[in-house]
Amino acid sequence: MQIKKILISAQEIQNAISKAGNFINHINIHDNKPILLVSILKGAFIFLSDVCRTVTTPCEIGFMTAQSYFKNTYSSGHVEITMDLQQNIKNYHVVILEDIIDSGRTLSEIVKLLKTRNPISLHVITLLDKPERRVVDFKPDLALFEIQDKFVVGYGMDCGELYRNLPYIAELA
Ligand code: IMP
Ligand code: MG
Repeated sequence: MQIKKILISAQEIQNAISKAGNFINHINIHDNKPILLVSILKGAFIFLSDVCRTVTTPCEIGFMTAQSYFKNTYSSGHVEITMDLQQNIKNYHVVILEDIIDSGRTLSEIVKLLKTRNPISLHVITLLDKPERRVVDFKPDLALFEIQDKFVVGYGMDCGELYRNLPYIAELA
């Protein structure tokens, strides 16, 4: 497989990133309680690292990994948390940073789980959203770009573990 077309350039991504930082800066303006940014690995590692550098209020960083099981190109619907947060999130404003929302299953499971731990607030910011592909009802609080039903790589996202290092988001041929 090879790159067919650049869908979102590195510059377009950087221009949109500050919207996420701005959103996060406003989350605790009334109570000044701590903020925890959670990245879902591996796909969101670059997104988190760019977004966190536009955040001007103190924040902590956490990581989770989730595995969804696929049959051919369709997700089976089973999502397993393979690495959990280290922190107790009870006294935090939690912001999940995700690379892409496709069926919505991964995030709806993660949100369901984190809500049982009673954070002060829980928000979801995604870099990309593919609303046409939704299987479960799930809406992020902020989506930087909406894209059509295409498989994309780059800026953290992979195909067979390759292409995560591309500075732009591209469609594969
Ligand atoms: P879900 O279907 O919303 O649960 O998405 C599960 C995960 O699949 C996302 O967090 C991504 O890591 C991955 N994924 C979904 N669509 C794409 C894509 O177009 N390219 C690369 N990874 C994707
Ligand atoms: Mg992901």
